[in-house]
Amino acid sequence: MWRSARHVRGLAMLLAAACALVCGAAGSTYKDGRVVFSYLPVQRTLSNPQWSSLTHASIAFAYTSEAGEISFIGNVVNSTATSDQNARAFIADGQKNGVKMLGAVGGQGNFSNHLGAAMRSSSSRAAFVSNAVDFVKAYGLDGLDVDWEYPGDLDDASALLSTLQALRAAFESSFGKGKKQLTTTLYNHPYLGPEVPAVNYKPYADAVDYGLVMSYDYFGSWADYTAPNAPFLDVPFYPGSFRNTTDAWLDAGWPASKLVAGLAFYGHSSLASTNMMTNATDQYVAISNHTSIEGPVSGIAGTWTWRDLREPKGGALTDPSTAGPGWTRTWDSNTMTPWLFRASDGLYIGYDDKDSLGIKMDYSLRKKLAGVMIWEMGYDYQNELLSYVRDFITQVDDGSEPSNCVPSDAELDNIYDKSRDPNFFNRRAVAGAVRSAVDASAPICSFDGVHEASAAPVPAAWPSAAAVALGAALLAAL
Ligand SMILES: *[C@@H]1O[C@H](CO)[C@@H](O)[C@H](O)[C@H]1NC(C)=O
Ligand SMILES: *[C@@H]1O[C@H](CO)[C@@H](O)[C@H](O)[C@H]1NC(C)=O
Ligand SMILES: *[C@@H]1O[C@H](CO)[C@@H](O)[C@H](O)[C@H]1NC(C)=O
Ligand SMILES: *[C@@H]1O[C@H](CO)[C@@H](O)[C@H](O)[C@H]1NC(C)=O
Ligand SMILES: *[C@@H]1O[C@H](CO)[C@@H](O)[C@H](O)[C@H]1NC(C)=O
Repeated sequence: MWRSARHVRGLAMLLAAACALVCGAAGSTYKDGRVVFSYLPVQRTLSNPQWSSLTHASIAFAYTSEAGEISFIGNVVNSTATSDQNARAFIADGQKNGVKMLGAVGGQGNFSNHLGAAMRSSSSRAAFVSNAVDFVKAYGLDGLDVDWEYPGDLDDASALLSTLQALRAAFESSFGKGKKQLTTTLYNHPYLGPEVPAVNYKPYADAVDYGLVMSYDYFGSWADYTAPNAPFLDVPFYPGSFRNTTDAWLDAGWPASKLVAGLAFYGHSSLASTNMMTNATDQYVAISNHTSIEGPVSGIAGTWTWRDLREPKGGALTDPSTAGPGWTRTWDSNTMTPWLFRASDGLYIGYDDKDSLGIKMDYSLRKKLAGVMIWEMGYDYQNELLSYVRDFITQVDDGSEPSNCVPSDAELDNIYDKSRDPNFFNRRAVAGAVRSAVDASAPICSFDGVHEASAAPVPAAWPSAAAVALGAALLAAL
């Protein structure tokens, strides 16, 4: 019966695939209006992006001046195209494939500093809002994403709220109610920025269609200890994880129907002070050298994209869960993420793969969130993760719940409590005990067979190190 259900699904997928070819813009839809967002950096090109996994994509980032002008600036790496031309090509391609295309303003560094400055004064805010309407019109966008990293105090929080409300009103009066979408990113802790105490989030949620949670970048080479980029449960020494962040935003009053959880298609690297394989302790070892070792293909400091991990050039993973020569892969049952260690130079990488992304998606669906957001689709390798995201959600929608994918809330609390054990440096043994108490043989969130067969991997073009360096230089220059 299980098998025949799979065959029916396989047939449905074949028909859907055939329709996607002949029926034109079928659009990417999931049950109950679930959404899958991805960011799309404007300074890189992608060949054959797998739009069929997405409902929304946000082009990151348009630059906002302090006076509130908005534009795509600079050039595309290794291309004669400008960012402006690249953005237009993305928008046309995505919309042709039924994906809603948004422009994202803000981002890191000066892009956000200047956006913040534009929002703070009422005159530049009014200019920004009016320019945003023109920007959406000029590019034929489906909406705007406001990504201020980060409002610094309560005045900033109130400036952000006023801006979102004014944008909503302007979009409705210029385009009609419900015609354009407005989203905002949410920090990985449930307040607007590092210095802002909790505020009433209801009006923020009322003003936007979705809040996209940046539930990643918890740890990296800047931290004191090696630890996962995006743990599912809190690590022992610092609060912050996918589950806690999701729950905290829900507890803070952000409605699940407007909450979109972030999935990282990358890990962060750090240099461990000891050979982590000589002592079966845990994945938390002091970082004594905060150098950010870059991924071998993408060349982003301290970041190893899924592609960096999977490309033969890096050699870290020879298949999605098998370490290459010189590397060891370990699954951590507390944080529910995999990590890699390269003994030759003490390189630790805490990252996400299908197993850990499945757990996060399962939790998101269980909590009835609106969906998930990906940073970012260009980090994928042969669409492995994009296909997994699509197939996971589709199969859950079809009624095939992944059994034992995420332990129950009570079991999660138990794992969490155990991981607070003061015997901090015996984590792996503790984790093993907890996992066997839960069900050691339980599959870790995966669907076998069907998604492999239905996926049609198309290698994506990859930005060079120069591309990324140029992007960084662009940010630094502004
Ligand atoms: C994180 O989640 C655990 C388990 O539910 C909870 O006990 C803990 O208080 C949470 N931590 C924070 C900082 O909210
Ligand atoms: C393993 O590491 C822990 C934590 O650093 C240390 O306390 C313990 O002595 C080590 N064990 C061995 C056998 O080296
Ligand atoms: C830190 O690690 C980098 C890369 O291995 C190395 O070049 C550098 O010399 C190290 N710095 C110190 C202070 O050990
Ligand atoms: C981009 O240009 C640089 C410098 O010419 C080159 O090294 C790199 O291989 C190029 N990358 C791609 C993806 O074409
Ligand atoms: C961008 O930020 C840097 C500091 O990060 C600052 O020195 C520089 O003046 C800024 N550039 C502009 C154009 O504001």
